[in-house]
Amino acid sequence: MDLCIKNGTIVTSEHTQRSDVLISGGKISQVSETIDPSLLDDQVRIIDASGLLVFPGLIDAHTHYHLVSRGTVTADSFQEGSRLAAFGGVSTVIDFADHDKTRPLIDSLTDRSAAMAAEMAIDFTLHQGVYGMSEQIPEQLKAVREAGVHTIKIFTTYRNVGYLIETDGLRALFTACRDLELMVTVHAEDDELIEELLLKHGDQPFTPAAHALLRPAEAEERAIRYIGGLAGELGMPVYIVHLSSEAGLKAIGELRVKGVQISTETTPHYLQLTKELLDREDAPLYIMTPPLRSAQDNRALWKGVSQGAISIIATDHCTFTHEQKLSSHDCRTIYPGIPGTEEMLPLIHTFGVEKGLISMEKLVALLSVNPAKMFGIYPQKGSLIKGTDADITLFDPSIRWTITNASQHTAAGYTPYDGTEVKGKAVMTIRRGEILTEGDTYHGVPGSGRFVRAGRPGIYHRHTR
Ligand code: URP
Ligand code: ZN
Ligand code: ZN
Repeated sequence: MDLCIKNGTIVTSEHTQRSDVLISGGKISQVSETIDPSLLDDQVRIIDASGLLVFPGLIDAHTHYHLVSRGTVTADSFQEGSRLAAFGGVSTVIDFADHDKTRPLIDSLTDRSAAMAAEMAIDFTLHQGVYGMSEQIPEQLKAVREAGVHTIKIFTTYRNVGYLIETDGLRALFTACRDLELMVTVHAEDDELIEELLLKHGDQPFTPAAHALLRPAEAEERAIRYIGGLAGELGMPVYIVHLSSEAGLKAIGELRVKGVQISTETTPHYLQLTKELLDREDAPLYIMTPPLRSAQDNRALWKGVSQGAISIIATDHCTFTHEQKLSSHDCRTIYPGIPGTEEMLPLIHTFGVEKGLISMEKLVALLSVNPAKMFGIYPQKGSLIKGTDADITLFDPSIRWTITNASQHTAAGYTPYDGTEVKGKAVMTIRRGEILTEGDTYHGVPGSGRFVRAGRPGIYHRHTR
């Protein structure tokens, strides 16, 4: 059914303006000050958006739904991930295809994409994990690019589980990505420092709180300096995922001064939560990698967001149930990751816009426009431009509510933000003209979500070698 959103206020990264929006055949067909309903076909459903903000559908650029890892699988399936995302105003996610080193990259990508297409109700695209380098990888990357994926994800840590690529291989991989204009995204933690600290830790208990000491901000900073140095030397852009620390942010600033094109995202948890949570009885519920830091780090990251040094907020949504999380209290074996997609919008609105740190336009840039541009899916996603996908989040900025374990839709059964009072809620999420959520009702159809082919990452458009 076609839709006409009347009396709302559209917000893009550029402006805020009273406008009506007409959606036909899943695309945005008209955006104008007023659209006269009497001139529309009887079949068009009119949605009264008085008092609501109309955002381009939000994008969570870092999710791990149905992640099979460490001998288990994460709590939120593709169906559950889609549902909780839609309730959070998110209509597109960027998830990850792991690198199965026994097969060409394209096989992992095709399998992941097919599995998601069968179950997702929101749209999605992928980052391709690369956990090893070989002579075959450049050709394999070409196939990945042809399939519509233009970003790879690497780790500078986890040598112990075979994720880390050693120096020579990394240089060769970066060079191949530069030549193919693929964006390298990096989980940045210095493995050597972490190994050293583990050794020094000796036989002291590996408590949840020790996680923060064993993977300190310095590890992030060192890895960023190393990766940024390499990218600078090769004359290519690079992107740091889930930035967690003031030290890491400072390193990024210094690399930029030297001319390195380095971009970054942070997450709601590194902006809002602190490592004191790791002293609690239920501390495993708050374990992710990199670990939570200090309130000073929270403030520095917010400053980075408001001043533009951090251009994207994504969640690293990676959930485990209470039972999975609390099955270990040893920081080396607690399953890492927490929920976030559904909480992202109210948290960033409350602690960013309401606190005066960012404007509403900036919120839309961080959660929709910038990820779309960075990862090559703009303007199909992240815009309200005529002819593009009608992905729209209707946001009521006035609703005051409390995030609780019961209010959230994650199969994890808990939220790390339990008890947090927030202002603002997504009241309707529309994906390609279909209403996915309407208040508390979910209409999403598993398997209706589509893979979005990405083009050249935005940063390559500005890049001159
Ligand atoms: O602890 C986390 N972040 N789990 C998800 C995987 C990753 O490293 O991003
Ligand atoms: Zn990571
Ligand atoms: Zn992740």
